[in-house]
Amino acid sequence: MDIDLVDQDLYAQHGPPHEQLAWLRANAPVYRHHGDDARDWPPFWAVTKHADVVHVSRHSELFSSSRKLALFNEIPEAEREMQRLMMLNQDPPEHTRRRSLVNRGFTPRIIGQLEQHIRDICHDLVDEAKGRPSVDFVRDIAAPLPLYVICELLGAPVEDRQKIFSWSNRMIGAEDPDYAADPAEGHAAAMEVYAYANELAAQRRAEPRDDIITKLLQPAENGEALSEDEFDLFVLLLLVAGNETTRNGASGGMLALFEHPDQWARLVADPSLAGTAADEIVRWASPVNLFRRTATADTVIGGQPVREGDKIVVFYSSANRDEDVFDSPGVFDIGRDPNPHIGFGGGGAHFCLGNHLAKLELRVMLEVLADRLPKLAQAGPVRRLRSYFINGIKELPVTLT
Ligand code: HEM
Repeated sequence: MDIDLVDQDLYAQHGPPHEQLAWLRANAPVYRHHGDDARDWPPFWAVTKHADVVHVSRHSELFSSSRKLALFNEIPEAEREMQRLMMLNQDPPEHTRRRSLVNRGFTPRIIGQLEQHIRDICHDLVDEAKGRPSVDFVRDIAAPLPLYVICELLGAPVEDRQKIFSWSNRMIGAEDPDYAADPAEGHAAAMEVYAYANELAAQRRAEPRDDIITKLLQPAENGEALSEDEFDLFVLLLLVAGNETTRNGASGGMLALFEHPDQWARLVADPSLAGTAADEIVRWASPVNLFRRTATADTVIGGQPVREGDKIVVFYSSANRDEDVFDSPGVFDIGRDPNPHIGFGGGGAHFCLGNHLAKLELRVMLEVLADRLPKLAQAGPVRRLRSYFINGIKELPVTLT
């Protein structure tokens, strides 16, 4: 089998290569993937089984998020410095302190208080979509929903939304000609967002409000507090991590529902399934396709020895269809329960901070759509993002009635 799991064009055409991933799970679950000399990419270990992805995720002492930052190509020095300071790219114990400080703002109870607000946004988006001659589900519903939520969370002014939208497109679409002329544009966008996050954070310090983000500026009970830099970088991380992921969960989920009309009919008939549907969507669409780690010592993954310094790439999209974990993994079932998917990460230190928020946004969106647009249907071909990192959808034309 000719296997290339990081061919951007393949993702642009079909999304994740599920057939190849299934073959790897059965035959070479920890697979030595070739590098690419032309692009200066090193070889890496492709980890495709659920249990192995969980093992790697839960052992940050063996599989570092901070060593060799870039997935493949080196990134420019200025951006590398910034990336290094982000929680996502740190290991315990450095990571632990920051994470425990920001966890305070993202508990199920605190996030649950946003429900009505998220519902109002969904209703507004449906109202606006109804007034349009043609509707693109991505542009009109899936993209603005998380964007508006995260902007509000951060106190970004309404007039900045478009700017933030286009930065995050350029960053995540750095390899997609529709979004960026070349990868350098993606790096430039990252630096612009960084400067913007600094401004936003400074404003917050100067004018505190009664909201989640302002609370994170206050010291925790043990007296620990985020430094100015840590707070700025956290704002940046939220802008990046809270947007594209949920957008593509929403659009990937809607596409799955169009491809499985019986499941859409089931949801319309019984909107109380929206909660389990949200989880099934994250399993099925795996908006974050993969993540990288670097081995800190000679060790073993699923019986396969790996060497210190080796690159490890965990494929959530594959783990989420592992036959050893899910009954009929190839069936999209909005009532699936239990659903031990690892679309938000395999557990351990970096488990998605925004998982409650993302699930709330997806559930409320599904409830509103099932209630107000029961005849929602696909009206044209889907266009996918050219990216092996985010399983992204750029365009999904729909009709509402
Ligand atoms: C981490 C997926 C939504 C904030 C992660 C990771 C995954 C992920 C797989 C783990 C990365 C690793 O192990 O290295 C997703 C998916 C989402 C989503 C699929 C939507 C469907 C969100 C939202 C927010 C967010 C809405 C913010 C409000 C974060 C942060 C981290 C993270 C801050 C880093 C945590 C850390 O390093 O400790 N996410 N995410 N995510 N996510 Fe999400």
